Amino acid sequence: MPDKRNVVITGSAGGIGAACAADFARNGDHVFLLDLPGESFAAACAETAKLGKTTPIATDVGDRASVEAAFAQIAKAGGADVLVTTAAITKPAAILDFDPEDWDAILRVNLTGSFHCAQLAGRQMVAKGKGRIITLSSINGQVANTGRGAYSCTKGGVDMLTRLLAAELGDKGVTANAVAPAPVNTPMILKVHGPKDRAVWENQIPARRYADPDEVSSAVRFLASDEAAYINGHILNLDGGFMASGILLR
Ligand SMILES: NC(=O)c1ccc[n+]([C@@H]2O[C@H](COP(=O)([O-])OP(=O)(O)OC[C@H]3O[C@@H](n4cnc5c(N)ncnc54)[C@H](O)[C@@H]3O)[C@@H](O)[C@H]2O)c1
Repeated sequence: MPDKRNVVITGSAGGIGAACAADFARNGDHVFLLDLPGESFAAACAETAKLGKTTPIATDVGDRASVEAAFAQIAKAGGADVLVTTAAITKPAAILDFDPEDWDAILRVNLTGSFHCAQLAGRQMVAKGKGRIITLSSINGQVANTGRGAYSCTKGGVDMLTRLLAAELGDKGVTANAVAPAPVNTPMILKVHGPKDRAVWENQIPARRYADPDEVSSAVRFLASDEAAYINGHILNLDGGFMASGILLR
């Protein structure tokens, strides 16, 4: 893996995406920032640009033509060496009340968007004979926490997409792994967890706290490194011990 890699980050204006973008930019990599156009994207791009070489590309990951245009631009810069897919949306509701339109919208971004990006990045990586794909999954992809609906289902799908990529690209120099966090302190979690939810979660996490975005980007950085060359198809739970534990009597 060269020192200066082309690193593509989707959802780069979000809490975890911005932390990953900052990490790779500080490392000297050329970071391609992909997110929906708008003020928060422009502001996040301006912040990351202070840290290193960046190219913002306004992209809707759920739209094939938009993703194709982004990767055509990345190809002109030498193609993707690392892809980190963080773009996602959520809307909590009980499954019997889940709005079918919300279901379609969440699948479109979280699962189909990850597929579009991984396929187009994967083709560029295979042509180069090397690459790293890191998907942002969630512990919600493995256990059914109430009210997560379509979001959980997309994360289960992202886990399987990651394994498929690992199985099919593993002999072509490309690895694919997922990072699956428990709650992380980002805008997404602030929208869906009120103080009551937070208290319930913190009681059930052995570490008794949410993760910080920097703790997620550290794991992503490791999976993108040469040291992680033999780790392929792994779902790395980053959860303060949540998935290892049962009932916690405090
Ligand atoms: N925050 C958590 O507690 C938590 C826990 C587990 C997993 N995750 C996962 O980590 C990832 C990042 O989460 P976050 O908390 O940083 O979320 P966030 O809401 O802060 O950021 C998500 C980003 O994705 C972008 N996005 C949404 N739709 C898009 C589209 N169609 N095209 C391009 N970009 C789009 C948003 O504009 C936003 O900048 C997600 O995949 C999420 O599921 C988060």
